[in-house]
Amino acid sequence: MSDAAQTDRAPDRAEGDVNGTPARRAWVRGLGPRAAALLERDQRAFLRQALSTPCLNVAVGAAGDTLRDADGRDLLDFHGNSVHHVGYGHPRVVGAIRRQLDQLPFCPRRYTNLPAVELAERLGALMPEGAKVLLAPGGAAAVGIAMRLARAATGRHRTISFWGSFHGASLDAASIGGEAMFRRDAGPLLPGCEHVDPPTPDDCGWGCSGSCRMLCAAAVERVLAREGDVGAVIAEPMRCTTVSPAPAGYWRRVRDACRAHGALLIFDEIPLALGRTGRMFAFEHEDAAPDILVIGKALGGGVFPLAAVLAHPRLDIAPDRALGHYTHEKSPVGAAAAVATLDVIRDEGLVERSATLGRWALEFLRSAFDGCPLVRAVRGRGLLLGIELRTDLDPDAAEAVMYACMARGVSFKVSEGRVLTLAPPLNIDEARLRRGLSAVVGAVRERAGGDRSVNVV
Ligand SMILES: Cc1ncc(COP(=O)(O)O)c(C=O)c1O
Repeated sequence: MSDAAQTDRAPDRAEGDVNGTPARRAWVRGLGPRAAALLERDQRAFLRQALSTPCLNVAVGAAGDTLRDADGRDLLDFHGNSVHHVGYGHPRVVGAIRRQLDQLPFCPRRYTNLPAVELAERLGALMPEGAKVLLAPGGAAAVGIAMRLARAATGRHRTISFWGSFHGASLDAASIGGEAMFRRDAGPLLPGCEHVDPPTPDDCGWGCSGSCRMLCAAAVERVLAREGDVGAVIAEPMRCTTVSPAPAGYWRRVRDACRAHGALLIFDEIPLALGRTGRMFAFEHEDAAPDILVIGKALGGGVFPLAAVLAHPRLDIAPDRALGHYTHEKSPVGAAAAVATLDVIRDEGLVERSATLGRWALEFLRSAFDGCPLVRAVRGRGLLLGIELRTDLDPDAAEAVMYACMARGVSFKVSEGRVLTLAPPLNIDEARLRRGLSAVVGAVRERAGGDRSVNVV
């Protein structure tokens, strides 16, 4: 696969903002004594690891769109690890969890329970041709289940996924993932996990010279045809962290090529599903439905760790194999949280809200950054917005803007060292969304050396 598979990306182009930089150390030095003391204890108690410990700050409260830190500062949370579509501590989610805790707090394997069955039915009904479901205690585990199911269904173990992608931190998920941070020095990864370059909107490197000829899709078609034994293509339908949709028609071509060559199409929508992009599922923006969909994060209502594999009903072909045998597989508490979350998303019209507010926000950011030399591109789908900075001009700009915004009470993450990734709750109040975006615009303009003031429309 040499023509399509290129080298790993540099380690600084990581999933999130990295935690060992001088800017991080300076930020932490500015925190108050309570936060500093707990960060110190955290480092002594936890194994340190990239992107995680040492931590950024101490959270002491979370409600709606807001995180409160140990210094009593309220931060509008435009990150939320993609779990807070319905905001933190939504009363209907919390109420459902409380009731479920009193009734059936745990369900041992071999038993089933009403909330779990109801959840699987509700999820299946969301898919165009229905789905059968497996639940898992986290996204990486669900990705592993999807990989096992694809192997069982096709008899093939080889996969195609993207350089630069992230599908979870476990070794199987890191094998299909394409980020150096999770692969380098990890030892042997799973065999047969081949990678191609992703269909990124800017700077894609496929040589289409400005007018997209979709050489990226042709590469996947070529690899599927040439190898002939690929079991699955696995990808996010749109890279979440960098907010990078594929060119129109890309997924239709990959979908058709998978069918033609006996491969399954697996979409990982762990951070994107349930309305983030202004549709219930991100694949609804494409003319291509997957054979297997993996969701997670917001499914647990911002409280419970929960993920799910939604497989086309014809893939119920492995009754004698263990696909995902997890202790907390059919958690009644997790399922109750998820059913309540689906209810909130439906009853509060959050998918439509994400589309409407997202359109306004994209327009607002695009006009605010018109002519700003530091901004390469502003992208968005629903309430997922990405501001890509010219780190060729100012390598530390993204991190500097992030810390400047945090000091002003807005939290978000930086992706691949260059994209400010904004993902507010889908039920955020409009005025607060404006306030948060205005703070980001002000900080970017300030870094660019220009006018900081923002006309809030
Ligand atoms: C696209 C994608 N896939 C998989 C995962 C892994 O999910 P989890 O952290 O629940 O294992 C993530 C987490 O960030 C993700 O963004």
